[in-house]
Amino acid sequence: MATTETAPRTTGKVRPHQTQNEALTFEKSSPGKRAYKLPPLDVPTVDPAALLGDAHRKTAGLLPELSEIEIIRHFTRLSTWNYAIDLGMYPLGSCTMKYNPRVNEFVSRIEGLAEAHPYRPDALSQGILEVIDLLQRCLIDITGMDTITLQPAAGAHGEFTGILLVRAWHESQGNPRKKILIPDSAHGTNPATAAICGYQVENLKSNAEGGIDLEALARQVDDETAALMLTNPSTIGVFESQIHKIADILHAKGALLYMDGANMNALVGKVRPGDFGVDVMHLNLHKTFSTPHGGGGPGSGPVACKAFLEPFLPTPVLIRTSSDRHDEVGAPGPSHLGTGESTTHTPLAWSYDRPHSVGRVRAFYGNTGMFIRALAYILANGPDGLRQTTEDAVLNANYIRAKLEDLYDLPYKTASMHEVVFSDKRQAAKGVKTGEIAKRLIDYGFHPYTVSFPLIVHGALMIEPTESESLEELDLFIEAMRAIAKEVDETPELVKTAPHSTRVSKLDEVQAARKPILRWRPTESPAHVIPAQPVPSGPPEEQPTA
Ligand SMILES: Cc1ncc(COP(=O)(O)O)c(C=O)c1O
Repeated sequence: MATTETAPRTTGKVRPHQTQNEALTFEKSSPGKRAYKLPPLDVPTVDPAALLGDAHRKTAGLLPELSEIEIIRHFTRLSTWNYAIDLGMYPLGSCTMKYNPRVNEFVSRIEGLAEAHPYRPDALSQGILEVIDLLQRCLIDITGMDTITLQPAAGAHGEFTGILLVRAWHESQGNPRKKILIPDSAHGTNPATAAICGYQVENLKSNAEGGIDLEALARQVDDETAALMLTNPSTIGVFESQIHKIADILHAKGALLYMDGANMNALVGKVRPGDFGVDVMHLNLHKTFSTPHGGGGPGSGPVACKAFLEPFLPTPVLIRTSSDRHDEVGAPGPSHLGTGESTTHTPLAWSYDRPHSVGRVRAFYGNTGMFIRALAYILANGPDGLRQTTEDAVLNANYIRAKLEDLYDLPYKTASMHEVVFSDKRQAAKGVKTGEIAKRLIDYGFHPYTVSFPLIVHGALMIEPTESESLEELDLFIEAMRAIAKEVDETPELVKTAPHSTRVSKLDEVQAARKPILRWRPTESPAHVIPAQPVPSGPPEEQPTA
C-alpha cells in the first residue's frame, strides 16, 4: 500500500506503442489489392453509363488499395496510440473522466429504447417517455430542486439554458437586469454564457481559502445584478461552505443563485443544492452520471430549477396527460409535479403549450441515449451506492493530495473534495513547468492531468482521479508523479523533452493548432495510388447462377 521512492513498479505501466512507424493507408496502397472477394454475379449485368447518364463516373477515385488484414492492423495499431479510460487512470481534472460501466451500454442498446424514433407518436413511445420521466424524478431528488429539463446537450448548453431562465424571470418582473457576477476560479464557459445571454460579466475575487469573500460579494451585488454563477465545489476542488449566506445576500437584492453543478460528483447523496439556496443549476450527465465524453458520445446538461422558474422551461415539457394539475399559465404541469407517486401510469406526452417558455433549445428532446445510460448508472448504484461513489471520489483525491503534498506545492490548503490542484512552483524554480511534467506522465502510461487551469493557480496541475480508481492504480500514479519530481531534480532535460515513448515527440502546439494539416495530398503521381480506371461497361453478360 505504501509508496516508496525505490519501488520500480511504474516501469510496468510504460506502454510503448506497438509500432512507431505507421504509414498512411495511401502510402501503403498497392494497385489491385482488395479487402473483399465477391461471389460471381447471379443477376444480369447492367451498363452503369446507360443507367446513370451524366452522373456516371469515368474514373475511379484515388482510394487506397489494401488487403483486409492490412486495414484491420492499420486501424487497430492506430487505436493503440489513443489513451482511454478503459486503458488506465485518466486524471484530467474538472472533466471527471470516470469509468463508463458496461451495463449502461447494454441497457442503452435494448432494441425498444435504442430504436425509439423521435417522430413516433407519444402514444407509441410510452417506454422511452417513462425512462425520461424517471430520470427527471431521480435528478430532482438528487439535487433537491423542484423541476427540470433534460434538453441541453452539454454543460455549457445547460448554463445557457439556465441563464435564459434567469433572464426570462427577471423580465417577467419588469427588468432583465444588466450583470452577472462570476468568481475568478470559474470555468471559462460561465463568463461566455453570461455574455451570450446579453449580460455584463463582473469578476468576483476569491479569498485566501479559494471561496467567495462575503463582504466583497455584499458590496458588488446591486439592483442590476441578475445572478451569481457559482461552481460548487469550485474548480480548485473546494466546497463553498458559506453557500447559505451567499444565497441570502443575493436574494435580499432580488438576484438569483445559479450553480454550475458540473462538480456534483462531489456532492451526490451528501447535500442537495435545492436545500442550500440554489435557484437554478445544471448537471453534466457525462461527468457525474458516467455517460461517455466527447468522442465516446454526446453530452447532456440537464437544468434543474425552483418552481418559480418552471413556466419558463424550454419546450416541450413532459406531462401526464390525465393530470388535473395546471400551472399558473394554464398549461398542464410537468409530469414530475403534482402527480404524486410514479405508480400512476397515466400516459405521458410532450406539451408545447407553454406561453412563457424560453422556447426550444434543442432538436427533439435531448440526447436520449445519454438519459438511458445515466438512469442505468443511478439505478445500478441506488442511493447508498451513489453516496459511496461520492465518498470514494473525495477519498481518492485526498489520498493523492496526501501522497504528493511533500513534493508539489499546494497553494490552497482548504480541504479538497473531488480534485486536488497543485502548482508547479517548486519544479518551475528548476526550469520545468506543469505542461512538461504532464507530457512526461505520458511516458509513465497515464493521461496527463489538466494543465494550467484554473487560472487562479499559476502553473496548475489539476488532478481528478474519480471514484473509479483502485488503490493499486492510484499508487502507480503517485509513484509516477514522485519519480518525475525526482527527475526534475536530477535529469530535468529528460522531463523537458518528453514524451519519449510516443510516435512523435514534443509537438509545436501553436503550429499544430494554427496550421493543422488535416488532409493527405499526393506530392507526385505515385505509382501505388490507384490509376484512373475506366469503369467496365457494355452489354449485359450471362453470369452463372448460384
Ligand atoms: C465546472 C464546469 N463547468 C462547465 C463545464 C462545461 O461543460 P461541457 O464541457 O459539457 O460544456 C465543465 C466541463 O468540464 C466544467 O468542469
